Amino acid sequence: MSDGLFISFEGVDGAGKTTQVQRAHDYLQECGLRSQVTREPGGTPVGLTIRELVLHGLAAFPSVAVTGGTDVVDASDDLAPRTEALLYAADRAEHVAQVVRPALDRGDIVLCDRYLDSSVAYQAGGRDLSADVIRRLSLWASQGLLPKRTYLLDADPSQSKSRLDHEPDRLESAGDDFQQHVRQAFLQLAQREPDRFLVIDATQSIDRVWQVIQDDLDKLIEGREPDLPQVDDENDDADADAQDDADDDESTAGYEDDGQDAESDWTEAADRSDQASEADDDLQGQLDDEQDDQSMDAETVGGDADDDSIPVDSPARWLLRSRLLRKTR
Ligand code: TYD
Repeated sequence: MSDGLFISFEGVDGAGKTTQVQRAHDYLQECGLRSQVTREPGGTPVGLTIRELVLHGLAAFPSVAVTGGTDVVDASDDLAPRTEALLYAADRAEHVAQVVRPALDRGDIVLCDRYLDSSVAYQAGGRDLSADVIRRLSLWASQGLLPKRTYLLDADPSQSKSRLDHEPDRLESAGDDFQQHVRQAFLQLAQREPDRFLVIDATQSIDRVWQVIQDDLDKLIEGREPDLPQVDDENDDADADAQDDADDDESTAGYEDDGQDAESDWTEAADRSDQASEADDDLQGQLDDEQDDQSMDAETVGGDADDDSIPVDSPARWLLRSRLLRKTR
């Protein structure tokens, strides 16, 4: 079984996710661990195409707008909310299948700049679709894959948007109310899954935010084997022993695959949603209801990051610990 570790970074636009993802990646590599940075939307070639469409609408494909257009559709038309939700789900399906799951299966640490919670926060919280349906759609697309840890960089959108260093895209220019709803939706999600989420005040300095993430990462990676081929260490014997330990390690993955349940739950949720009279736009109510859904909650329980299968005196653990201790905080 794989012992990959899946970590996502979430927050409103301009909260500083990308900077922290990069710091985490650099740090993990310094610790001798294999980590991979990826993002949604756009973590695959197919996803990059979807990204253009969701961020810039049909304006990103002017030739399609002209040749495939009709009198009632032109490049300035916005996407229908359900179309947008399905496009993000399609991006996620491709991304998980082609990038995230293979990396986890190799035992890598995957750092993802936005994931499923963005869909619930933006497409449900921001667009008034059902949070329940959006979540289940995403779980269906990802075959039930949830991160072991999600860092929510929380900031008031009126503050964070001043950090944006590019022209606002469709979502970023959707208005202050939209962004405020998105922020609240993220906070409600975090409240609902306190074991997975770590909420961090993103209005602090970059270094303070990183400090919180680094401390938490240290706990998550404690006991993980350094990727020994990358380790520049003079003690060859220790390296060889540590590699043996790595080969023996049967520790569990940082995620749990329950795609079958996700699929049936999604279908049921879609049926229920279709039967519902008018859209229930109370996100909090939906999230509270969902809390009773044990089958979904089971998926939030990933592998055991505190796995103690590596002996305390193993060379790998010693190497990692000594590296961590050397770090100035
Ligand atoms: P992001 O890559 O963070 O944008 P940028 O690089 O410009 O900061 O995300 C792109 C936008 O897509 C962002 O506004 C949030 C939105 N989004 C959703 O609406 N739903 C989703 O599921 C995801 C992953 C992103």
